[in-house]
Amino acid sequence: MTQHPPKNLREQVKVAPYTTMRVGGPCDFFAEVDDVAGVAAACEWAGEQEIEVFVLGEGSNVIVSDAGLHRLVLKIEIPGFEVIDEDDESATLQIGAGEHWDHVVERAVKLDLAGIEAMSMIPGTAGATPVQNAGAYGQEIANTLVEVQAYDRLIHKMATLNREECGFGYRDSAFKGAMSGRYVIVGVTLKLSKQPPAEPTYASLKRYLEAQDIHKPNVAQIRSAVMAVRARILPDPSVVPNAGSFFKNPIVNKRELDRLRLPYPDMPAFEFGDDYKLAAGWLLDQCGLKGAEHYGLKLHSGHALVITNPNHAGYADLMKLVEYVVAVVYDRFGVTLEPEPQFIT
Ligand code: EPU
Repeated sequence: MTQHPPKNLREQVKVAPYTTMRVGGPCDFFAEVDDVAGVAAACEWAGEQEIEVFVLGEGSNVIVSDAGLHRLVLKIEIPGFEVIDEDDESATLQIGAGEHWDHVVERAVKLDLAGIEAMSMIPGTAGATPVQNAGAYGQEIANTLVEVQAYDRLIHKMATLNREECGFGYRDSAFKGAMSGRYVIVGVTLKLSKQPPAEPTYASLKRYLEAQDIHKPNVAQIRSAVMAVRARILPDPSVVPNAGSFFKNPIVNKRELDRLRLPYPDMPAFEFGDDYKLAAGWLLDQCGLKGAEHYGLKLHSGHALVITNPNHAGYADLMKLVEYVVAVVYDRFGVTLEPEPQFIT
C-alpha cells in the first residue's frame, strides 16, 4: 500500500530552533505527530521513500550538524497522563511520549506519588527519558519504568519493551546502542510509590532542606528543593541555549581513583557498583574552565559541566570547544571525557 505523506509535512526546516542547544541545519522533511497512528504512517511513508527517520522530542539532548539532515525529523507530540492501576502501595501511570517531562513530575507530585520527584526540571519530553536513562539526585527513570510502548520500524508494528529489554546503564540504554533507530517511543508506563519518599542523600539537597528546617521531606518539598538547587546552578534552556550536562561523569576503577587522588586528595568520587564515578564538572572547574568562553560558547559559570550557546554558535565551533576541553582535561588528569548528548549528523 502506498502511504500518504504525513499530515503537515514540511520541507527544508531548520532544526536548530527545535533543539535546546540551538544548533543544527535544515532537515529535508519535518512532521509533528500527536498519535500512534500518525507515527506508524509517517514511518511507513519514510520507508517507502527510503528516507531515514530521526525522532525528536524537545531536542534537549541532541546536537544536530549544521550540514543538516537528509532525513524526516519526526517531532513527537503525543499527549497523555493517566493513572491506569493503583493499590494501597503504588499507582501506575500511563504517559504519552510527547508530554513535557516536568509537567509529568508536577502532576505525579500533586498526586503525592514518589519516585520521580528528584527528577524535577529535567528538560525534554517523557518519551526521551528512557533513551538516555535520564536522572538526577539519586533517581533515574530506570528505577520506576515498567515498560515502554514503541513503534517497531523493523517489523512495522507496535511493541512493548520491559525494563530489562531497555538495557539501561548510566545515562545509557539500548535505544542509543543496539536498538538505535529501530523504535519510536510513543508512551511510557511508570510505577510510583504511595510510601514516603526516600530521603535525599545529595549534599546540596540536604543542605537546602536543612536550611529550611525540613526533616523527612515529602515529595512536594523534595521537588521544591530540587527546583531551587537546579535554578541556582543550571541555566534555563528557554533563556540561554544549552543541553544540560555536556559530558558524562567518567567511571574509573579503584586503582585509577587512587592514582588520581594522590595529587588531588579532595577529588569528589561516588561509588558506582565496584567502580567510582568522578565529577566531570569538578575536573573542568579545576582546569579553570568554569565560566570560560571559547569559539563563541561558554562553560556555564554556575556549573562547568554545562556548555551554553548564548550567541547561537554553530556545530563546528561547538566541536572545536569540545575537542579543546577534552584535551585540557586529559592533559591534566589523564581522564577522557565523553559527551553526553547524542550527535546527529
Ligand atoms: N562541581 C564543581 N564545579 C562545577 C560543577 C560541579 O566542583 O563547576 C562539583 C560539585 O561541587 C560536586 C560534584 O562536582 O561535588 C558533582 O556536581 P553535581 O552534584 O552538580 O552533579 P553532577 O555530577 O555534575 C549530575 C548529572 C546532572 C544532575 C546532577 C544532580 C550527569 C552527567 N549529570 O551532575 O544531570 O542534575 O548530577 O543529580 O550525570 C543532565 O544530565 O543534564 C544533568 C543536569
